[in-house]
Amino acid sequence: MSDTLIKIKNLSKVYHVKEKAFYAKRALHALTDIDISIKRGETLGLVGESGCGKSTLGRCILRLEEPDCGSVFYDGEDILALNDEAMRRKRRQMQIIFQDPASSLNPYMKVRDLIGEGYKIHGIFKGKDEIEENVKELMAKCGLKEDMLSRKPHEFSGGQRQRISIARALAVKPSFIVCDEPVSALDVSVQAQIINLLVDLQEEFELTYLFISHDLKLVEQISDRVAVMYLGRIMELKSADKIGEEPVHPYTRALLASTLDTAANGKDDAAKEDIVLEGDIPSPIDPPKGCVFHTRCFMKKDKCTREIPSLKEVRKGHYAACHFI
Ligand SMILES: Nc1ncnc2c1ncn2[C@@H]1O[C@H](COP(=O)(O)OP(=O)(O)OP(=O)(O)O)[C@@H](O)[C@H]1O
Ligand SMILES: [Mg+2]
Repeated sequence: MSDTLIKIKNLSKVYHVKEKAFYAKRALHALTDIDISIKRGETLGLVGESGCGKSTLGRCILRLEEPDCGSVFYDGEDILALNDEAMRRKRRQMQIIFQDPASSLNPYMKVRDLIGEGYKIHGIFKGKDEIEENVKELMAKCGLKEDMLSRKPHEFSGGQRQRISIARALAVKPSFIVCDEPVSALDVSVQAQIINLLVDLQEEFELTYLFISHDLKLVEQISDRVAVMYLGRIMELKSADKIGEEPVHPYTRALLASTLDTAANGKDDAAKEDIVLEGDIPSPIDPPKGCVFHTRCFMKKDKCTREIPSLKEVRKGHYAACHFI
C-alpha cells in the first residue's frame, strides 16, 4: 500500500465572473498548477489569506467543483475520470466539514436524521434500530448526549453544532476529511475542544485530514505538514515541526510575522521578524505576471516580474516557490 492517499497534479480552476453588470465575463484564476500529495494518516494544513483558493482546492479534491485541468488521484485512482455513480460511491470515503454548521446542517432535520442520513444514502445500515444504535455510538464519541437525538440544529451552540457535523461526516466511515476552517467561527476555548476531538477521532479512525485555515499558528500546531497558498498557487510546503524548519518563503515569513504581531505571547517576540506585508492582495482576475507575490515582496528583483518560480525542494521535504531561495 502506497504512503500517498491523495495526489494532485497540475490542478487548475478558473471561474468566469462579471466584475460589473453589463460587463463581459472575465477569467478568475482560483487555482493554478497545484501539485501536492497528502500522505495516508497525516494532517496537511493549508493556509493563506482570504480568497487565495483554499476552499476551492478542498472542493476540487472532492469533486464538489470540477477542476478545468489536472488530475486528482485517490488511492491511485484518477477520480476525475469516474462517472457520477462511481463518484457517488467514492464520496463515501471523502467527507467535508465546513466553517459554519449553522448553514451546512438542514435546520428542519433532527440530530438523529442528520447523523443517520449517510447510513441510509450509502446503505451502510438498513434497519431503524441498527441505525439508531450507531448514531448513538457516534454521538458519544463526538461528545454529544443521547437526549439530543430529537432536537434540531438551532437548539445547539456553535461548538455542539460542529460536533454534529463531525459525527455526520464520520457516519459513512470515510478515510479522508477536508476540514474547511472548522473552528474559525468558534470561541477560543471551544476551538481547542473541537481541535482535540478531531485529533482523537483521527487516531481512532485512522483518518487523513486536509485542514484549511487562515491561521498559520493553529495550522502549525495540529498539522504534520503545512502548505501555504497565495493567489491560487502553492508558495511553500514544509513540515509543521518548527525546529530547524523555519519558513523560507518571503510570503510565509511575512504571514508568520503578522500572526506573531497579533499574538499576545511575549515568548514569540524573539522569533518575530520585522516584515510588514504591504498593500492588498491583487485580484485573481488579473494576477501579477511572473511570481504572483512580487507586488508585495520585500525580496523582489527584476526576474520576479517576468518568470514564474517553480516549487522546488530547498531542503529534504521542504519546498518553496521563490527564485532567490
Ligand atoms: N463559485 C464561484 N464563482 C466565482 N468565483 C468564485 C467561486 N468560488 C470561489 N470563487 C473565487 O475564487 C477565489 C478563491 O476562493 P476560495 O473560496 O477558494 O478562497 P479561500 O481561500 O477559501 O477564502 P476564505 O479564506 O475567505 O474562505 C476567490 O477570488 C473567490 O472569489
Ligand atoms: Mg474558504
